[in-house]
Amino acid sequence: MGKKATVLGIAGFGTVGTGLARILDENRERIIQRMGCDIRIKTILVRDLTKTRTYTPTSTTTSGTPENTVRFTATPADLVNDPEIDIIVELMGGIEAAYDLISLALKAGKHVVTANKALLAERGQELFALAREKNLCLYYEASSVGGVPVIQTLKESLASNRILKLTGIMNGTANYILSEMSSNGLDFSTALAQAQELGYAEADPSFDIDGVDTAHKLVLLMRLAFGQHYALEDLPVSGIRNVAKEDISFAREFGYRLKLIGQARDVDGAIEAGVFPALVKYTFLLARVGGNYNAVRIEGNAVGPIMLHGQGAGDLPTGSAVLSDVMAIIKDKDRPNNTGWTMPELPPANILPPEQAVSQHYFRFSVADRPGVMGTIASAMAEHDISIAQAIQKGNGDQEVVPVVFITHEAPMGSVKATLDAIEHTDFIAAPTVHYRIL
Ligand code: NAP
Ligand code: HSE
Repeated sequence: MGKKATVLGIAGFGTVGTGLARILDENRERIIQRMGCDIRIKTILVRDLTKTRTYTPTSTTTSGTPENTVRFTATPADLVNDPEIDIIVELMGGIEAAYDLISLALKAGKHVVTANKALLAERGQELFALAREKNLCLYYEASSVGGVPVIQTLKESLASNRILKLTGIMNGTANYILSEMSSNGLDFSTALAQAQELGYAEADPSFDIDGVDTAHKLVLLMRLAFGQHYALEDLPVSGIRNVAKEDISFAREFGYRLKLIGQARDVDGAIEAGVFPALVKYTFLLARVGGNYNAVRIEGNAVGPIMLHGQGAGDLPTGSAVLSDVMAIIKDKDRPNNTGWTMPELPPANILPPEQAVSQHYFRFSVADRPGVMGTIASAMAEHDISIAQAIQKGNGDQEVVPVVFITHEAPMGSVKATLDAIEHTDFIAAPTVHYRIL
């Protein structure tokens, strides 16, 4: 063999770490043919050295000699201070320990790969500045949309475009839950338990279901797309925790599917962005994305719209993205391209106020079944410039409370809020109103 093997220290050997090791073992010969060198795992950092592992990385065959030297450790310094390790791959998750490990690794002159979107959304600015100062790679393809190469696409393939809009289903767990509720009639908690069992969910699954994980990913993608830093705390975020089967059924009746969406668009130079459950017309490709699959639609001013689709979570899809970063670093190590932009620090985003975000809307009011109610709601909407496209009331005359559903034409979020404020305290409203945006 020609070049010396690239040596990895891996921090974390759970779902993604195991996936990475499996792919490396399975595809080793092909990788050597592409790179001209082997990639060898030397040391794996874990929390609990006594835990039984589901996979043992097999021996590598550097220079044709079988070796079985992969060593487990619980001491980060065994990775950071090992001069033989070229790249540290952080797959632990969490903020503090991961930040410390990555910053120590960069200070020790090692390139880094991470799948940690929470860390890069919260403290990416600091870590990218450090990587830049040290002229090292800090690559993160697996951090957003799992196995789907969206980072590389924004950083390299669409670099000649002004990005106008990106819209996506970016969380495998949430999409799995909504798909199972919609197609197989599962209840929310059973579907979530299955997603956890399949290795899709975060250590804290509230990140998945409350939209936080999608928000982390959207912050990273907005940096790459617009060259601006949209601070996580400024992003409006809502999740799917309270989604009711009733709204999934009504959505289907009107020809929509309910999806957790992350969206950012350039509105005359300002960025309008948010994470929210939305009704998506069933004829749109995004509505057809099921299970742990994710998809991102990117619209550039030259290329027009493109769509990326694939598994957004799981061991092998995510491991595939991690290994592609390792291979990219072997090629890019003298010329790192971490953020896709040459500015030392990305400027703060010019944010469009959330109340100016315009879309169609879905409302489900739970109301007393008596004359005039529908007219009162319609009048309140008209007063705030919301025009109704479709409406239905379900009830057979026997129930005291009935659902009334409206689909509206486009209106700004400010008008929606004003309408809800006006209606919410009237005496015919029997339960909190459900509102979703429509894509
Ligand atoms: P996981 O299955 O929970 O595995 C985490 C691993 O990290 C475990 O091996 C754990 O050690 C180790 N670890 C955690 N904290 C540690 C610490 N302080 N010191 C040493 N080792 C520590 O997690 P995962 O699902 O593989 O996710 C890893 C990262 O990838 C996260 O940032 C996640 O957001 C991201 N990600 C995951 C997916 C996915 O589909 N799962 C997809 C994309 C991105 P023990 O085994 O000893 O407990
Ligand atoms: N928990 C995440 C998801 C993992 O379900 O999408 C992939 O980032």
